[in-house]
Amino acid sequence: MAEKTLILLKPDAIQRGLLGSIISRFERKGFKIVGMKMLQMSGELAKEHYAHLLDKPFYPDLEKFVTSHPLVAMVAEGKDAVEVIRLIVGPTNASKAPAGTIRGDFSNSTSRNVIHASDSRETAEKEVKRFFRDDELFSYRFSSSYYLRASDE
Ligand code: PPS
Repeated sequence: MAEKTLILLKPDAIQRGLLGSIISRFERKGFKIVGMKMLQMSGELAKEHYAHLLDKPFYPDLEKFVTSHPLVAMVAEGKDAVEVIRLIVGPTNASKAPAGTIRGDFSNSTSRNVIHASDSRETAEKEVKRFFRDDELFSYRFSSSYYLRASDE
């Protein structure tokens, strides 16, 4: 079943000119981008999005980092999108991320790890709603869908 997940291309991805290289990986894998926007996170939005980290010693730096420059928010849709996109992204600590993953190829840091992706279906539902109104998400068919997977997959 096609599912949706939230992806944030964090300020370091924009500052380092990595947007195109990162987005192309999701396109190549066959995911459909159904929402995309540039925004600058407010402190309030950062506190909501990273609520589970508010008491961590690194939280002040995390909030400063994600709010100080614009980022790109995207919603990707496809089969097992949450799980597969987490695999493409790689582990949070990019120093340990395998080569071939986004973090493994573009970062060597836990805090400046270029991308965020929802970590479960439940989180994805909440995170998509946090960043996108219903009328900012699009529903369309890929003319190439026949070549991406069989109808019973
Ligand atoms: S994850 O990726 O959500 O499963 O992991 P989690 O531990 O919940 O996310 C941690 C997020 O905080 C950012 N961050 C740091 N983590 C660990 N240590 C340090 N010092 C640190 N600084 C920032 C990390 O990049 C994760 O961000 P997201 O956007 O969730 O990937």
